[in-house]
Amino acid sequence: MARRNVLITGCSSGIGLAIAVKMAKDEQKRFKVFATMRNLAKKEPLEAAAGHRLGKTLEIKQLDVCDEQSIKTCVNSIPDRRIDVLVSNAGMGLIGPIECQSIEEMKTVMDTNFFGLVRLLKEILPDMKRRKSGHIVIISSVMGIQGILFNDVYAASKFAVEGFCESLAIQALKFKLQLSLIEPGPVVTEFERKVFEDGMKMDLSAADEETAEMFTNIYLKNYKQIFQSLGQSAEDVAEHTVKIILAENPPFRHQTNTLYTPMTTLKYADPNGDLPIDIFYKMVFQHDKIFSASLNFIKLLRWRSRKSFDLGKPSQ
Ligand SMILES: NC(=O)c1ccc[n+]([C@@H]2O[C@H](COP(=O)([O-])OP(=O)(O)OC[C@H]3O[C@@H](n4cnc5c(N)ncnc54)[C@H](OP(=O)(O)O)[C@@H]3O)[C@@H](O)[C@H]2O)c1
Repeated sequence: MARRNVLITGCSSGIGLAIAVKMAKDEQKRFKVFATMRNLAKKEPLEAAAGHRLGKTLEIKQLDVCDEQSIKTCVNSIPDRRIDVLVSNAGMGLIGPIECQSIEEMKTVMDTNFFGLVRLLKEILPDMKRRKSGHIVIISSVMGIQGILFNDVYAASKFAVEGFCESLAIQALKFKLQLSLIEPGPVVTEFERKVFEDGMKMDLSAADEETAEMFTNIYLKNYKQIFQSLGQSAEDVAEHTVKIILAENPPFRHQTNTLYTPMTTLKYADPNGDLPIDIFYKMVFQHDKIFSASLNFIKLLRWRSRKSFDLGKPSQ
């Protein structure tokens, strides 16, 4: 099989970096990776992780998903503009009561997470359609299926991605293109740190006392524990993503975290939509002690088995 050109966005850290390195290190050398980031001053961790693959199976390029010209320049710099696999990964989070967030902050999230994907596809999709080949892989989230307390705008941006892709997938099929949404649960990356720190610094004066208290003493208090109990590594998510890219018939949706699947399944179990809202409500406000104890129990089980829970094999 010919070597496939892969363009990945947001490779300065986390999931994007892990996917780029995993694909560049493929023993069968099946991929040429164009690992992109908006700020090339942040390329050192990727260079270090890529090691001697740098300049061979991996090249680093500038690309800001919020800047059409930067996308065009990057795509034009790739031989024949040929991108066989696009991994749309760049993204950002936002938590907190909406009363305390500015419309500008919210627009930045939508501009990055949703319009970032749209801009990429406006540039890359026509070439893929012409060639009648290509795989578009989008790092979405379980929050593209199920909203969560104080993640209103982030969930909205991922819902937008999912709706957009569901529509596009039908057309893509006609052009023999593949589209896959990767849906991780919590992943321990810079994202988690940045979002938590922003949450801690948030000016809550625009919120009423009860809401501010709920955000600080329930949401932020449990935030770290959720990541410690249910969180995956970026490498785990990269392993799932590469499996999907290599699959003969890749699925449209793929959740990477089996511990989270029962929560997203609730959504499909009740067409009225009340079931997941009711269960989340009870978990957070009525059975918080049981919820917290369950998280600790899962953390203990994972520590004792020292296994990667989601792929069912020991982590490296
Ligand atoms: N971590 C989680 O819990 C989790 C769960 C589900 C889904 N996800 C999704 O996974 C993806 C990757 O996140 P991560 O966890 O790996 O977080 P991360 O380590 O913070 O990585 C996010 C990447 O996106 C880049 N980025 C942000 N805005 C950009 C822009 N305008 N143009 C180009 N790149 C931009 C960041 O670059 P800078 O370094 O320049 O900011 C960084 O490289 C995101 O789409 C996120 O929504 C994350």
